[in-house]
Amino acid sequence: EVGMNAQDLGKLLHREPAEIVKKLFMLGVMTNQNQSLDKDAIELIAVEYGINAEEKIHEDISDIDTLYEKQMEASQNSKLQVKRPPVVTIMGHVDHGKTTLLDRLRHTQVSAHEAGGITQKIGAYQVKIDNKPITFLDTPGHAAFSNMRERGAEITDIVVLVVAADDGVMPQTIEAIDHAKSAKVPIIVAINKMDVPGANPEHVTEQLMKYNLIPEDYGGDTIYVQISAKTGENVDELLQMILLQADLMELKADPKQKAIGTVIEARLSRGRGPVADLLIQQGTLHTGDPIVVGNRFGRVRVMTNDRGRQVEKATPSMPVEITGLNDVPESADKIVVFDDEKTARSVGEQRAQQALQQSRENVQHVTLDNLFDTM
Ligand code: GTP
Ligand code: MG
Repeated sequence: EVGMNAQDLGKLLHREPAEIVKKLFMLGVMTNQNQSLDKDAIELIAVEYGINAEEKIHEDISDIDTLYEKQMEASQNSKLQVKRPPVVTIMGHVDHGKTTLLDRLRHTQVSAHEAGGITQKIGAYQVKIDNKPITFLDTPGHAAFSNMRERGAEITDIVVLVVAADDGVMPQTIEAIDHAKSAKVPIIVAINKMDVPGANPEHVTEQLMKYNLIPEDYGGDTIYVQISAKTGENVDELLQMILLQADLMELKADPKQKAIGTVIEARLSRGRGPVADLLIQQGTLHTGDPIVVGNRFGRVRVMTNDRGRQVEKATPSMPVEITGLNDVPESADKIVVFDDEKTARSVGEQRAQQALQQSRENVQHVTLDNLFDTM
């Protein structure tokens, strides 16, 4: 079962879907355009059209970005959708207090243990407020990590923009606003370090208004909260605002579907092999699920939550760490679950081969270009 229907086959074979349905009917298979077909039905059609449909169909399921999009759409149209926790990305200029804010929410001390006090990767955590979970992504503020901020903005529902009240709008503040805007994600402004003498929230607000973040007092609709991550002042207020914004957005997912998700970070662990931090976006991921992640494949072997506790399943908006992949995937790679390990392996291997081929071609192009340059 590869999740194809008559419409997909029609597209693949350049025929009207109605024609495919009719052909199948004549061959004794009752279906409509949207019903997904089993392998036998697909083979019947392949034989009927006397072409190497097998190969083409295979090509199609190896396009996991399209599979991801299709499953995202299916989940969003599902009648079984239930409320899911918001995914909130904390962004802002270096040292403005993003990790300290998350430490306060989680009762941890991550920021104190970071090399040079600087965050260098995206961290993913879930916090429960009045029994309502919120997933937070902590991004680095250092100028060098622009791609991580961009990624953070792309997989989130809400951006919390942290701006230090004693420092104001800085280059990465502006960059974060740009990422959030191009990802069409609403921004909540948290003016931080209100405990510091010289904190000037009015000045910060004035600066931010130039970027079209207009507070309600001035007739706009951007939520502003003045906080201190250090003392905890108004942090509850900020959380309430996040939950309010999330409620307005009616975020939903169908946990009954196969999981889809995105890689946040991945690395090679000496003892555990390839390890990937994932954000589950729709459906539920189970231990043992055969998966393709970017150009990698495998079975979910061990899954742990953000507190390092082993879990058997991961539901929508949950960040988890998994092992069991054949190699280290890339950040931002998509995760798709397949019915069996054999299919996952063949798709993964095909994708890795294609990627290798692609990079060879790129190298050849570069070499040719270089050649012309020197002539
Ligand atoms: P990067 O991840 O490197 O971009 O920095 P960050 O935004 O995560 O900043 P971090 O939380 O590491 O805080 C930087 C410094 O500011 C630390 O020394 C914190 O203790 C301090 N700090 C954070 N929030 C507050 C606050 O509300 N008040 C005061 N006084 N200090 C704060
Ligand atoms: Mg940090």
